[in-house]
Amino acid sequence: MIRTTYHLQRSCRICGATRLLPVLDLGKTPLANAFLTKRALKITERKYPLAILFCPRCSLVQLRHVVDPSVIFTDYHYRTGASKPLVEHFKTMAHDVARDYRLTKKDLVVEIGSNDGSLLKAFAQNAQVLGVDPAGNVAREATRSGVETISAFFTEKVARRIVLTHGRAKVIVANNVFAHIDDLDDVLKGVGELLTDDGVFIFEAHWVGNLIGKGGYDQIYHEHLSYFSLHAAKYLAGRFGLLVTDAALVPMHGESLRISLRKKGPQKAGVKRVLEKEKRLMLTKYAAYKNFARKVAVSKAQLRAFLATCKKKHRAVVGYGAPGKGNTLLNYVGLRAKDIAYLTDTTPEKQGTYAPGSHIPILSPAVLAKKRPDYILLLAWNYAPQILAKEKTLRKKGTKFIIPVPEVRVV
Ligand code: TMP
Ligand code: ZN
Repeated sequence: MIRTTYHLQRSCRICGATRLLPVLDLGKTPLANAFLTKRALKITERKYPLAILFCPRCSLVQLRHVVDPSVIFTDYHYRTGASKPLVEHFKTMAHDVARDYRLTKKDLVVEIGSNDGSLLKAFAQNAQVLGVDPAGNVAREATRSGVETISAFFTEKVARRIVLTHGRAKVIVANNVFAHIDDLDDVLKGVGELLTDDGVFIFEAHWVGNLIGKGGYDQIYHEHLSYFSLHAAKYLAGRFGLLVTDAALVPMHGESLRISLRKKGPQKAGVKRVLEKEKRLMLTKYAAYKNFARKVAVSKAQLRAFLATCKKKHRAVVGYGAPGKGNTLLNYVGLRAKDIAYLTDTTPEKQGTYAPGSHIPILSPAVLAKKRPDYILLLAWNYAPQILAKEKTLRKKGTKFIIPVPEVRVV
């Protein structure tokens, strides 16, 4: 077994402040995407502390313990293509960006953390595309399917190499990956090198306002080192001479922040709108986060109580989706296969494996129509509307869905 290590975050990743305030401690958990084979169940899993801190200077919320990224991302089981709503979201994004920035076949679009190439496939209709992803297995798959992908962490060095081999990029995208990056300075230097003067760097990251508001604490796991607000992102951009030219909240993973950074260009109305919303929600104040921590403890107690009642009444409860966040939730609430019989997931690589920590088996969704459980814990709650619509037949036959966060709801 590989011995993995972590280090403590002693100063803020964005502004360098050393006074970081404790927000929430979820205890020790294994890595959220370290799914286990049957054989691996016999070996003791490595667990790491999972806790978040708030920086009162730039407002960034960040993990206290940073696990070595080479362990998390080199053999990665997450596939964008397995989540249809995400693929749809990316198609729309590629279309909008191509229109707004008038992309032509001469322009280059580079994606950082390109995974299986789902987003770049949509861009490829209007531009040259190049992916960068550290997961060798996924990068190879993407290249085989026609999206050239460099297997590496994106750094200033990699950016310089791309400029030599492919030229500068008019669009650089980094969706659901910015939160994963420890050395943001290196990435932003790389973006500065790689971006054309009239280009745009767009990234989407889960919004901390959703984490502590309508979303769930389960978005906290070791892969997510940072929990962004626009305030924090603006601080970061400013340090590298980049302007925040646009910002919006988009309905993905609850709510994500889509931020556009450019070397020059006018600021669109969205920036002010989001900054004001963040102020109203007090996202720059420690008190808002302490309040969130209190709500998390209540939500755990609620779910445990609900499941205890199910058990007393001999109701069958299973889980829907095996996302990384589901594992934070299962482990923090302390659920095992005796509480949740199995999880289903559309990702073929996850089927036949066991969830880290809880050791709940993961099956193909086909099992649901046959078994018709009484309750399904919706771990992939970020796709609730789509999933509830898709499982209409099951629901008509009496199966109920439990939405676990921010409060337990049965629908
Ligand atoms: P994500 O929230 O990080 O995109 O992960 C969602 C997980 O849930 C992923 O492993 C795929 C799975 N999933 C299903 O099993 N069924 C579904 O209908 C959807 C939308 C996702
Ligand atoms: Zn800071």
